[in-house]
Amino acid sequence: MKSPVTQVLKNLHQRYASLHDGKVADYIPELAKVDPKLFGICIATRDGHLYEVGDTRHKFTIQSISKALSYGLALEDRGEDHVTSRIGVEPSGDAFNAISLKPGNGAPFNPMINAGAIATCGQVLKKDGQTRIDRIREYLSRCAIGQLDIDEDVYRSESQTGHRNRAIGWMLRNFDIIEEEPRDILETYFQQCSLRVNCADLAVMAATLANQGCNPVTGERAIAHEYVDNVLGVMASCGMYDWSGEWIYRVGLPAKSGVGGGILAVLPGQLGIGVFSPPLDDQGNSVRGIKVCMDLARELALHMF
Ligand code: DON
Repeated sequence: MKSPVTQVLKNLHQRYASLHDGKVADYIPELAKVDPKLFGICIATRDGHLYEVGDTRHKFTIQSISKALSYGLALEDRGEDHVTSRIGVEPSGDAFNAISLKPGNGAPFNPMINAGAIATCGQVLKKDGQTRIDRIREYLSRCAIGQLDIDEDVYRSESQTGHRNRAIGWMLRNFDIIEEEPRDILETYFQQCSLRVNCADLAVMAATLANQGCNPVTGERAIAHEYVDNVLGVMASCGMYDWSGEWIYRVGLPAKSGVGGGILAVLPGQLGIGVFSPPLDDQGNSVRGIKVCMDLARELALHMF
């Protein structure tokens, strides 16, 4: 007999597969090539069981979802006081790519907007002969099902068109939020956004957060226990761009989305959700992804509050 959870996922997939609202991201030319019909939903439980329907093993770029996890690595490298003195935890109310820095010290409002994520990359240490991107790739891979690699075409496209992010990088340098020449940090950020995942990886990353930082599929410790709440806290307040308030009101789960069409959502102590569908709404969130998560929260009573 099919599990009731699989049936719920199948129904949701069927309900929204024919929804054609939204538009795939095209501000990075390479992202515009994705098939808008791709659609996958996966739930990973804290004991490592996966329920999946649709295109859950199709690879796409993680984009901004990486920001939540690399924030965990920066906290592990530098400690909470050091990081929060340079990167805030307040929703900005601005678009993800706004040049939005606090008046006074120039600190980005939070690590989920580009300014905060670029600053976060700068907090990650080069260590033991490894570059920042080596360490970020390994850290994110420990949270996923297996080793992640970089989509070189997307990376090139990001780097060739990332003029606004470069402007942000130099502003951060101006305020000493970044304490070195920002070029390497910006390339690290572009590479981090270009890491390839699938929908099942997203669910396992979410389940790793739900499981206090221990990957429930591999059994490996991926995120230091003491920083899991920091990551979840900032996802809950800032993870869905300037739709974060609506999201936490309606879905009630810490989450992060990316312009590749992925959404990762966490029910702490219980499970992780990954949804992949490339067409985005005006805020940059996956249209089907939002619908699926709203329905899932209602049908499986997942809202935390
Ligand atoms: O910085 C960019 O343009 C993208 N690579 C960021 C991607 C994204 O998902 C938007 N995020 N908040």
